[in-house]
Amino acid sequence: MKAIVRSRYGNADVLQVATLEPPRPKKNEVLIRVEAAGLDYGQWHLMAGQPYLLRLATGLTKPRQRVLGTDLSGVVEAVGAGVTRFEVGDAVFGASSRTFAEFACAREDQLCLKPGRLSFEQAAATAVSGVTALIGLRDVAKLKPGQSVCVIGAGGGVGSWAVQLARHFGADVSAVCSPSKVEFVRSLGATTVIDYTKRPLPADGRFDVILDLAGNRPLGVLRKALAPRGTLVLGGGEDGDRCFGGLGRSLRAALWSMFLQQRLTMLVGIVKPEPLRSLADILRQPGVTPAVDRSYPLDAAADAMRALVSSRVCGKLVLRVAR
Ligand SMILES: NC(=O)c1ccc[n+]([C@@H]2O[C@H](COP(=O)([O-])OP(=O)(O)OC[C@H]3O[C@@H](n4cnc5c(N)ncnc54)[C@H](OP(=O)(O)O)[C@@H]3O)[C@@H](O)[C@H]2O)c1
Repeated sequence: MKAIVRSRYGNADVLQVATLEPPRPKKNEVLIRVEAAGLDYGQWHLMAGQPYLLRLATGLTKPRQRVLGTDLSGVVEAVGAGVTRFEVGDAVFGASSRTFAEFACAREDQLCLKPGRLSFEQAAATAVSGVTALIGLRDVAKLKPGQSVCVIGAGGGVGSWAVQLARHFGADVSAVCSPSKVEFVRSLGATTVIDYTKRPLPADGRFDVILDLAGNRPLGVLRKALAPRGTLVLGGGEDGDRCFGGLGRSLRAALWSMFLQQRLTMLVGIVKPEPLRSLADILRQPGVTPAVDRSYPLDAAADAMRALVSSRVCGKLVLRVAR
């Protein structure tokens, strides 16, 4: 099978097309003929091996795992022992590893049936960013209908999900983005858009929840925009620190939070079965739709990765794997 591989850490130039043996499904796993695979910032971190702290898990001097990719959608080709929820021919989406390839294996609890209203490309743009946004708003911030939420980085992969999900939960959404994404985030359902090149965050404590996905704003600035008992969820905000990424600010927030009425929290958006199933249920109804800016053929994975970090993408990028 064709796959995108790399043998060292670096920029998108390290990605190459290779021919590998297809994987075999183990117990409780499903073999999927991949139709599309979503890109997310996590793939960039894995490709670059940054922040360096990450290499403790992924390989100190070179990556242990050659094939990148977490998000996927496709058709079940074979099922391993113990699989009960899927059969050959089912159209599915979810998360696994090594999905930038023509075939990938996934645990059955990390998959859901693809909602019929979604294309394979839309479904492949769902698990990582959608679950991150869902966990941030629903589980960490415990967002309630009528609350006021501000999404910083609203035009990006996670942000485009967060704006739509916050609306779905009945919140009033303010979105922070650059001028090129103002119309896009408005189309997702934001009632107020703050172009961060023209206006700073309001300092009047108006937001019950802030989901911060970009920009590395000082905690003091974020706190001034947050209601006295509001919740700040730090999801991104990488400060370019090659060793620790944005971890320093998140740890300071966690410490500071112990002495405040405001909650300053950190988001860990790992794809787990329950949020994935909840997201699939939401997607079976009209309303929330994965925002795919563009898809690239699998062979052009390096170009897609360059586009991902360009900051010009509205929503998500996807690799089209099936011919
Ligand atoms: N904690 C977790 O579990 C988790 C999971 C997934 C992702 N993440 C992190 O979340 C962050 C966002 O991920 P993503 O996939 O959504 O990335 P993305 O698609 O690149 O989106 C980031 C967005 O932020 C915007 N932005 C850049 N500078 C900004 C600023 N100063 N103020 C406001 N917006 C700004 C960018 O566009 P414009 O500047 O044009 O508006 C872009 O749309 C990344 O740091 C990623 O590592 C965390």
